[in-house]
Amino acid sequence: MLHRYGIDSVVLERCTREHVEGRVRAGLLEQGTVNLLAQAGVAERLARESLTHAGFTLAVGDRVHRIDLEALTGHGVTIYGQTEVTKDLVDARLGNGGQLYYEALDVAVQELSDRGARITYRHNGASHEIECDFIAGCDGFHGVSRRSVPRQAMQVYERLYPFGWLGMLAEVPPVSKELIYSNHARGFALCSMRSATRSRYYVQCTPQDRIEEWSDQRFWDELRARLPHEYAERLVTGPSIEKGIASIRSFVVEPMSFGRLFLVGDAAHIVPPAGAKGLNLAAADVRLLHQALVEFYSSGRRTLLDEYSSRALARVWRAMRFSWWLTQLTHKFSDEPFAHKLQLAELEYLVQSPAASLSLAENYVGAWRD
Ligand code: PHB
Repeated sequence: MLHRYGIDSVVLERCTREHVEGRVRAGLLEQGTVNLLAQAGVAERLARESLTHAGFTLAVGDRVHRIDLEALTGHGVTIYGQTEVTKDLVDARLGNGGQLYYEALDVAVQELSDRGARITYRHNGASHEIECDFIAGCDGFHGVSRRSVPRQAMQVYERLYPFGWLGMLAEVPPVSKELIYSNHARGFALCSMRSATRSRYYVQCTPQDRIEEWSDQRFWDELRARLPHEYAERLVTGPSIEKGIASIRSFVVEPMSFGRLFLVGDAAHIVPPAGAKGLNLAAADVRLLHQALVEFYSSGRRTLLDEYSSRALARVWRAMRFSWWLTQLTHKFSDEPFAHKLQLAELEYLVQSPAASLSLAENYVGAWRD
């Protein structure tokens, strides 16, 4: 997006291209994210290959209830893998001669002053240095950007959850045309997809679970056990293409900027995956930061740069609340019967009340003003 405005940038990536393009990540895009990709000129394949969903299903035991996103909000959601988004961005970047270095090692922020920033790294055995006006820290939760900021300059807000998600990708047709979020006595399950022939499924597991303990057979048996009868009967199984366990946390740092460094996406915030807000929040950060940089380079004004953190955080906290809420509504936290009864009461309220359904739907599609 910076390239489109003639603003130079250098992208440093620690891993190999194969690694980055081989990782299975999220797969649900809000309309705002799709619009941003279109604006960046990288939505051609997305338009051809993505699926649009007008709603999804909430299941409680054997009961199912459809949330009609389209009818409630006028928006659906788009199914297209984050990995595919990455491939499209990389193709565009390399296609227009942009600088992108894979296997950039020991990336370190050396200087962060009022006048500019300096970064050093190693590439192909040689040391390099970049002097720049700004750093966009898009390097994820474990990246160097956030760690380059003095501890006392940032406040961390964090919550860990007592479970993980075990995800599996398989070349089998999805059990349903739309997503199913299932609250079951054995724990949460989610049926998602990447295409009409490729399914992405998740089951809640314990934080101690190890992937070697989960054979494909055990995964399919557990998923089937957590789905309503009508879907369990229809589930098509097959060998996994990928299987992995993710820990679940909510995490925010404030502010999201420090001098000329701007944190973007997971470098500044992590949400539980229920509700699929992670990638969409990162895209929303990108939208704000690119607008701020374009304003700066076209007029010299810093208004949007100064407002970046507070504007981004408003959306971040809204998504924090929503993903926390959807997680506590659909997951098994304990064996405490009272907690389960509260979940059932809230799910019943969602089924009965158009107002409650609308609240869920508008947060799910991300249709709110910044
Ligand atoms: C996914 O397809 O990976 C996915 C979809 C919806 C979610 C979370 C993950 O809420």
